[in-house]
Amino acid sequence: MTNIRSICYLSLLTLPCFVQACGGRSCPALECWYLNEKVAVGSLTRGPSQVKSLLRIRTEGRRAVSPQSSVDPSIQRVYVVADPAATLCHRSPSGSTRKPFCELSHFQPQPSTIKWATSLAEDLSPVYLQADWFSAAVQDLDGRHGTSSIMRASAGTNELDAVLSVTSATLLVQSRLGEPVLLDCQFWADPASPLYGSGFAVEWRYQSRGTGRLLLAYDGKADRLSDSPEEGATLDFEALHRNGNASLMLQEAQVRHSGTYICMVYLPQLLAQVTIQLEIAEPPSLSIHPSPLPLPTPGQILTVRCEASGFAPHSLELSWELKGPDGKSRSLGPGRLSGHRLAWDGTYSQDTRLELDTSDPELGGGGEVTCVAEHPGGTRRAAVALRVIGFSTPSIEDSMAMVGVALVLYGLIKFVSWTFLGSGSDETQETDKKEK
Ligand SMILES: *[C@@H]1O[C@H](CO)[C@@H](O)[C@H](O)[C@H]1NC(C)=O
Repeated sequence: MTNIRSICYLSLLTLPCFVQACGGRSCPALECWYLNEKVAVGSLTRGPSQVKSLLRIRTEGRRAVSPQSSVDPSIQRVYVVADPAATLCHRSPSGSTRKPFCELSHFQPQPSTIKWATSLAEDLSPVYLQADWFSAAVQDLDGRHGTSSIMRASAGTNELDAVLSVTSATLLVQSRLGEPVLLDCQFWADPASPLYGSGFAVEWRYQSRGTGRLLLAYDGKADRLSDSPEEGATLDFEALHRNGNASLMLQEAQVRHSGTYICMVYLPQLLAQVTIQLEIAEPPSLSIHPSPLPLPTPGQILTVRCEASGFAPHSLELSWELKGPDGKSRSLGPGRLSGHRLAWDGTYSQDTRLELDTSDPELGGGGEVTCVAEHPGGTRRAAVALRVIGFSTPSIEDSMAMVGVALVLYGLIKFVSWTFLGSGSDETQETDKKEK
């Protein structure tokens, strides 16, 4: 017994050390698929175009690389990446064995051709650029956190330096209509790189159903915003210059804002980007007609209509339920559904009609009829009372009212009889006196 307890105690003591060693200061090594485009492009297919590789991340103040765990034999390349800001640190949540998804490819530095970034590409050392450059794109499997990093290899080695990293903690954003939206995008540039300090540019693009457009572009060197930025879309310029916070703020979410957003960050000759999905999900407002329901006679058929409006996207499941006097709910099916109607603001409306046959013994008892709307933005319900003459049992309120009325009546009778009887006795007394 004591043995077991001491073992537990010991394991409790060692557990934090274990956690620290695994997920503390050092970054876990990243397994990446190396995409060999040169092989894939040629007409001769030589070997696989995807090669498994491993990135060992070295963060600031740490000469030693993460513990040399036994390398998986299928890994064909191992790189050591100096990443002082730990931008490539992707830790799986504790208990999860799922690894982040990572793709590695060759990167070709090139002067950017876009107008607002041309001022960046001046007098750069060609020696610095003539090296092997790589681009890594990492994404957590929960799809929330993603990084894209441009890395430079020191001549003839497998040692890489992260030079430019762009990260987002919100790869998937869901918003209600009319709310302000923040699309997170942070960038980091290596201060030791000759590219650092020669300017940067940020560009946000929007894509939906095959069409794309520029939302805004900002030249950080000239402190200049592109001519016609999207209305309601802004950057926090102070935060951008202070700590590379390039997050896009949308003043007010609208249905047309749903889609793909790309945060692109340029250094002279380099470009890194992350892609963010924004979903506008607005659940419907429900209303039931007629409400309250008219009182039907037993056997009469009532038609009740539920209208769902102002929702987006258009996927919606409408259904009906009945809660009987016994408190049990049962489904009444979807009813007769209408098509979707599109409103000017991009939201939809839809309705469903239900016929209530009060001769149905299960309906004849009355109850509560509920319209249920299931939507990606949430589930909504609206209810209306169904009462049937001659069948409905009194509700608690009715019973209370009846008791109240009974009490009042009782009091009244008491009062009347007391005054009547009382005065009657007085009269008899008076007549008695007169007689005397
Ligand atoms: C980036 O800036 C926005 C706007 O000022 C702010 O709301 C957000 O918290 C900032 N993000 C970080 C990680 O600092």
